[in-house]
Amino acid sequence: MVAVLMVCLGNICRSPLAEGILKSKVDPSKVYVDSAGTGAYHVGNLPDPRSIEVAAKYGIDITDQRARAFSKKDFDTFDVIYAMDASNYNNILNLAQSDLQRAKVKLILNEIRPDRNEQVPDPYYGGDNGFEHVYQLLDESCELIAKQL
Ligand code: 4NP
Repeated sequence: MVAVLMVCLGNICRSPLAEGILKSKVDPSKVYVDSAGTGAYHVGNLPDPRSIEVAAKYGIDITDQRARAFSKKDFDTFDVIYAMDASNYNNILNLAQSDLQRAKVKLILNEIRPDRNEQVPDPYYGGDNGFEHVYQLLDESCELIAKQL
């Protein structure tokens, strides 16, 4: 079993989409997928309605998800931790306590655009098109991640 954690800031927009998309592409008996936020403002909340809507458009139901905060224990549970942007990446790395833990943390878009350190834009304050763009970026990334697992 491989365990993959998707992390953004609020765990209501980007990482719930990444979780739902990757789950749709892997065998759940082989790959465990979860998501979390580096911030705790939205803990216990459903994903943002705009994330729910764009996921549903592509046949993915993410309404079983509830936001939770990233914790140091996640370094033990997960083999790979994908950050959506540089801020999430740095916040996670600041909690790491060993090189082994640090090595688990990656920027998700480096999977499709290696070494460019590009970021999944935060769509929270943007229009709906932001969510479609985020969906497409994450779908492309998760397709490659699923093939590699
Ligand atoms: P997410 O988006 O990190 O993709 O879940 C955000 C959601 C909420 C906030 C920021 C980003 N917020 O500031 O409340």
